[in-house]
Parts: sequence; C-alpha cells; structure tokens
Amino acid sequence: MKGVLCWAVAGLQPLLSAALTIAEINGNRYISSYNGKTVSDVTGLVTAKSSAGIYIRSTTPDDDEATSESIYVFSSTIGRTVDVGDIINLGSAKVSEYRSSNTYMYLTELTNPSDITIVSSNNAVTPLVIGKDTLSPPTEQFTSLDEGDIYGVPNAQHNISAVNPVLKPAEYGLDFWESLTGELVTVKAPTALKIPSSYRDTWVIGDWKVTGKNDAGSLTMSAKDSNPETILIGAPLDSTKNPTTTKLGDALEDITGVVTNTYGFYTILPLTAIKIKTPSALTPPPTSLVSSGSCNGLTVGTYNVENLAPTSAHMPKVASQIVTYLKSPDLLFIQEVQDNTGATDDGVVSANKTLATLISAIKSAGGPTYDYVTIEPVNDEDGGQPGGNIRTAYLYNPSILSLKNPNPGSSTDANEVIVDAETGQPSLKFNPGRVDPLNAAWKATRKPLVAEWIAKDGKKPFFTVNVHMTSKGGGSSVHGDVRPPINGGVEKRTQQAEITAKFISQILQADPAARVIAAGDFNEFAFVKPLTTFAEVSGLKELDEALNTPVENRYTYSYDMNAQALDHMYISPVLASSKSKFQHIHVSSWVTDSAVVSDHDPSVALFDVCGCADSNKRVHKL
Ligand SMILES: *[C@@H]1O[C@H](CO)[C@@H](O)[C@H](O)[C@H]1NC(C)=O
Ligand SMILES: *[C@@H]1O[C@H](CO)[C@@H](O)[C@H](O)[C@H]1NC(C)=O
Repeated sequence: MKGVLCWAVAGLQPLLSAALTIAEINGNRYISSYNGKTVSDVTGLVTAKSSAGIYIRSTTPDDDEATSESIYVFSSTIGRTVDVGDIINLGSAKVSEYRSSNTYMYLTELTNPSDITIVSSNNAVTPLVIGKDTLSPPTEQFTSLDEGDIYGVPNAQHNISAVNPVLKPAEYGLDFWESLTGELVTVKAPTALKIPSSYRDTWVIGDWKVTGKNDAGSLTMSAKDSNPETILIGAPLDSTKNPTTTKLGDALEDITGVVTNTYGFYTILPLTAIKIKTPSALTPPPTSLVSSGSCNGLTVGTYNVENLAPTSAHMPKVASQIVTYLKSPDLLFIQEVQDNTGATDDGVVSANKTLATLISAIKSAGGPTYDYVTIEPVNDEDGGQPGGNIRTAYLYNPSILSLKNPNPGSSTDANEVIVDAETGQPSLKFNPGRVDPLNAAWKATRKPLVAEWIAKDGKKPFFTVNVHMTSKGGGSSVHGDVRPPINGGVEKRTQQAEITAKFISQILQADPAARVIAAGDFNEFAFVKPLTTFAEVSGLKELDEALNTPVENRYTYSYDMNAQALDHMYISPVLASSKSKFQHIHVSSWVTDSAVVSDHDPSVALFDVCGCADSNKRVHKL
C-alpha cells in the first residue's frame, strides 16, 4: 500500500495510511508538509528517551542531507513500553510543529502515538559524529533569509516558518541543525565557549572546522560571521545536572545527545550531564600598560561596573580589579554607577556616596586617590534597573590631569562646542556637560558625558565622551523564526550614534588635530550600522580598528555563543599614532560564573595627549 492515500471514514482530513519514512515526514524544509496530519505505520529505532518522549531514527534512510532521519515522539507514556535499541512501529501518530513562543522556530514532532508495536529489540544504537557522519556545520551564515547579515537593517523582514525555505545544510548553520533535529549525535572533543546559563545550558564547539577562534579558544563574532557552527548543550535527558563551573576554553568530554529546538535555540540534549575534561589554564593577565605620569603616556580605561551601588557586594571587587588588572588608569570612563540608594525608587539621584565609596575602596586596594566627574540624571529618566538611576562617570587621578575650566552643566543643559574666534580652537560650553539630553532619542537612556581635560605637561586640552547607549533588550533569538533577527534597540542606538557623532564632528571641524576619545558601553558592534555611522559622522576611528588588533581578539562580552565587543574606544585621527596601545582585560569573559564581578570586560589604552601649543592654530580667514 506504499504511497497510497486513503480517506478516513469519519473525518474530512486525509488519513495517510501509507507507510511514510521519517525523512518524508520531516521533508527538506523547516516546516513539515504533513503538519497537522495523522500519519500511520511509521517505523524507527529508539535512540534515546526522556521523561516526556522518545527519539526514533529511520530504518530506511534516504540520501538527502536536508531531511532529518530522526524525529521526536512526544508522549509521557511511550517510554514506559519501549526501550532504547527497540525498533518500533507506530500504527498512527499526528505530525505537529511546536514552539513555546511566537518568535522561536518550530520543532517537528510526532504526538499522540498509538498502536505501538515492538518489531525487534537490542539493536545497536550508534550516534552520528558531527562533522564525520554528517556535514560540518557552516561557519558564517545562519539562514538564506538573512540577506547575508544577521545584523542587517531593516530586520524582521521574514519569518522562516512562513517562507519555509528548502534547507541547504552545507551553506546555512540553522539549516544544518534543522536537518539533524531528532537525531542522536556525538560532539567530539568539545570546547566550552563561555560560562553556563542560569539553567546550566552551555555553548560549545566540537572538533569540526570553525572560524573566529580567539586567544582564549572561544569564537568571536565579526562582520557577517556570528558563528552558527556553535551549539547549545541543554538539560540532560537522564535528569542529571550540567556543571556550573564550566568556563570559556574548558575542554569537555565527548557529548552524545539528541538535537532539538527549545527555548529559541537549536540545542543538543545530552544523554547525561556534560563533564569537564581539562579546565582552561588561562587566567586573565592584568594590563601591561602603565602610566608615564604625564601627558605623553596617559592611561585611559573604560569599564561597565554593572549596577554599582554603595552597598553592592561587588564594590570591593571592582575596586580591586581597577588597581590590580587595570593598574589604576589616569582616567577611567565608568558606566552603570547607581545612585546612593541603588535600585530603590525613592527619588534619590545623587551618586556622590557611590562614587566616594568606590574611590575609597580603590585607595584601600592600593590605588591612587581618585576624584570624580559626573552629572546627575533626572530621576527615573535614564533607564536601567528601576530606581537605580545609572549614569556614566569619570574617575581621574588629580595628580596627572584636571578638568579645564570646570563649569558643569545641569542634567538638562545641552552642551555646545564653542569655537574661539581668535585661535579657532574648540572648547565646551559646559565642562562637563551632557549631549542634547532632552532629545527624544535618549528617552530611558544614559546621555553622553562630555568633558575637556588638561594632562600634566600637556600643551593642549583633550576631549572625552563617555557613552552608554540603549541596550539590546527586546531583540529576538539569532536562532529564532524572525529574519534577520531583531537587534533590540537598533533604531534608538542609530539616532544616539548620530547625535553623539555630530557633536564630536564639531570639535574636529574646528580643529582636525583635536584629541578626542569617545569610550564606553556602546551596546553595539563596531561593524554594525549604528556604529559604522558613528565612525563616519564623528570622524573618529575605533581603536582596535586603528591599531589593527586581530579581529578575533576584539571582545569585551560573552552573549549566547559569541565573544563580542559592546565596549569600545574611538579616537580622533591624531591619536591613531604608533604610540597608542589598547588592551581588553578579560576579567569577566575568562572566569567561572562565581568569579564574575561585572558582566563586561574592562579595557585599557595608552595615549600621548600632550599636543603642541602652536601647531594646531588654525590658519583661517579664507
Ligand atoms: C513574523 O511572525 C510574527 C509572530 O507571529 C508576526 O508578528 C510578524 O508579523 C511576522 N513577520 C513577518 C514579516 O511576516
Ligand atoms: C553628597 O552630597 C550631599 C548633598 O550635597 C552631602 O550632604 C553629602 O555629604 C555628600 N556625601 C558624600 C559622601 O560626599
């Protein structure tokens, strides 16, 4: 009766009484063409069991790489009557596409299995070794619907489930993983890419070809390469628990498990908990950049200190990192300084106690006695943890540098670039001052803090812009249905980048030799639209770019499968000299979860900001 389609007696829906292979049920696209239909006479080898169902593999595979030969059978009871190694026949089952959120991809599964027959038992069950018994996972592109760039704008142009493209598992990473859903696989010689999630799920790569490997053995994303060759290891099928102590670069024992799609990601559910074979021996080195004590070797750091309040448990740790790992930079751009009462929404906005506590903790840790510069936000206007009133601030070593003609602006004063009629030199109306703070683009976001400084022995002031743009909150999964995925906040960051860049461009228009450093948590990658615009409009260059840092070693943060750079320094052309240096200090990325102090890595740079007194005088009058 193969291939014959019968009609169910009592229903309008066709009952497919012909024996379908599992490959035919899955088909060569994301969504099964049998979705919603009842199929009969499905045969497969039980390769794995969980408390909620079983995984079966076809006994009559095809030779199409795009069709998975395995499928999940969702049933809490079937596992009681069948065992791994049984070849079984399902008299009937319903094909279903399941997802738990409408931005996730669906998983094709069989539900309501009935008339279950055990054909034979104790058959060999051999997992497919990824990259050996299967193709190797593609290393750059995710799906054909991303138009070559998962960070392309506009995003959310298509849904995979609606377009339902034919899978090309040799070209697209998600097509590859989709073509293996339900399959029992082995990842040989896995390496952990970061600490586990709070659910202990762990991103790994196997022994297959990868691109973007960084100095610590994880994968860094770069333009048009966000590492689809990585895979998430989820909750073990036998209810054991994955370790919490895994960290970036740890070598793990081989992992065998089933490929599924759950909580928005292609995931391997291991048969049992993953095991650490050899922990990474890497420990983050402190910066080797040391201040010269004057303008010709000024050290400048940037660090998002993650919701720092006076009573934060991580306050002394942040202070100790600043001294030990950052070697107490002369000037430190910090982000996420909370008000004196932290995340309590009580109308308190001042952070003088937070900053004084940090300064005294740094001193106790053996650092210098810093001074600080900041401007209070308007209560509850700058986003972040409710009530925390996070803001950016500068810590500076007053024996090495000082603000030029201090004249602080208020929370709502818009700073301006003033050009001296005589000398043509730019300076600030407010020092420090915030950039266009009432502009709607900054709603619920930190406003950039601009300042002008004189360093010891300096002949000329220099300018800084401390940035903390809108976060990526509200984005969709890079493994999700929506393509290109939603890059949360991208429209706001684009406007913020333009506003900030225009301000900076006025300084450089007046004086192309001005020394300008814009740094902080941009919440965006340098190769993505808001920041490519920022560089173009401002006239600044990203420091890693200017110094040709190897692309894979540009990272300050771990998110999902990727090492990535959300934190940057941008410099004006005159600072792009061979004397400039830049280092990312991986105190967060490289350590175990329990040793993480902030979610970001800090960075330290060294610059000559001395300038020459007269060389930059504008030869004007046209
Ligand atoms: C994609 O799916 C979501 C959720 O169902 C829907 O809101 C959205 O409009 C869809 N987008 C496109 C481009 O079809
Ligand atoms: C913070 O500022 C308030 C108001 O000016 C002042 O009374 C208080 O002493 C300051 N606290 C610290 C730690 O500087």
